[in-house]
Amino acid sequence: MSNEANAVKAGLEGAVAASSSISYIDGNIGKLIYCGYNIHDLAQHSTFEEVIYLLWNSKLPTPGELGELKAQLNQESRIPPEIQQLIRSLPEGVNPMDMLRTVVSALALYDADGQDQSREANVRKAIRLTAKLPTIVTTFQRLRNGSEPVEPRPDLSVAGNFLYTLRGEVPDEIATRTIDVALVLHADHELNASTFAARVTAATLSDMYSSVVSAIGALKGPLHGGANEGVIRNLLEIGSVDKVEAWTLEQFAKKSKIMGFGHRVYHTEDPRATHLRDMSRQLGERTGETKYYEMSRKMEEVVKREKGLNANVDFYSASTYYALGIPTDLFTPIFACSRISGWTAHILEQYANNRLIRPRAEYIGPMDVRYMPIQERG
Ligand code: COA
Repeated sequence: MSNEANAVKAGLEGAVAASSSISYIDGNIGKLIYCGYNIHDLAQHSTFEEVIYLLWNSKLPTPGELGELKAQLNQESRIPPEIQQLIRSLPEGVNPMDMLRTVVSALALYDADGQDQSREANVRKAIRLTAKLPTIVTTFQRLRNGSEPVEPRPDLSVAGNFLYTLRGEVPDEIATRTIDVALVLHADHELNASTFAARVTAATLSDMYSSVVSAIGALKGPLHGGANEGVIRNLLEIGSVDKVEAWTLEQFAKKSKIMGFGHRVYHTEDPRATHLRDMSRQLGERTGETKYYEMSRKMEEVVKREKGLNANVDFYSASTYYALGIPTDLFTPIFACSRISGWTAHILEQYANNRLIRPRAEYIGPMDVRYMPIQERG
């Protein structure tokens, strides 16, 4: 097994494991495209709903197609009463990503399309999952806070409804557009760990819910989507701009990784971070609390200077969500509410041209060990 051709690349670095027409990253020049479109154009001019359509259909929608998708998402955004009951019954203090993984798994039991694996049924499941994830997250938040859930409104976008069902008040345009752009930026990212997990599960011809549950489990980890919660925890712990440099140098001395920096594919600025940095600054200026933005800028400067590492998507999303008053442990669930569009696009793509994903391992254990009956061991 372990000849040159089969040499293991730790973490599968650089390995090409699928053909896909959904998104592309050029890590040397910091370029990200979804189905041919540059992320900067999409972040500036498109809405999350347009991006969902793009990822599922490989083309931007016409006004009629967009209207139809919005109507479908609105129709599917409520959650079954049994699922609301399940959320009510969860133990106090539960981790929101554990909640999301559990509830999405349970949601499968209430899907009318059941085990139907036709493309039509799977597109309906993709719509349901994308529409319901934000409602699950905000229902959970309201219930753990002692408030009753709020039903999504048909006249609001996915971003607008996320904030409306979280706070119980229709959000202003700036808050809505901030979440909308964040959803656009997080929607897809080639074969990131959670999308790969989703494709591996789908490639066994298991169902879409099982694939999404695999993805949620992978996203939770601090080396992936969990990093945005780590970023805000660090900023809150540090407390002020003047303490950032010493804290950062101390992490390097301890050989600790600093959340929100570094990337397997980007060797330059992550193009998503550019937009989130701007939004973090603008929201800070608007609320009059620029401290977390300024601390972030300082940390970015020190990490770049000392290690040559760049901020990734999770770094400025943390201070952006914090400025919107979103509870810090919902940052990773928001990532899931966006990435569900990419996960489901990849699952549909995998089903359309499937082959079991089953790599090999380089065996490094012992060989030909003489078997000893249990009585002789000890
Ligand atoms: N803080 C400090 N050092 C870091 C670092 C970070 N955030 N990210 C990478 N490095 C260092 C590593 O210690 C390693 O140094 P070494 O060669 O001296 O041992 C080098 O940079 C390469 O890092 P490595 O962990 O091997 O890269 P990777 O491609 O396996 O990992 C990440 C990529 C994203 C997992 C990694 O950069 C990381 O852990 N970042 C923090 C978590 C995070 O923000 N995740 C969200 C990603 S979008």
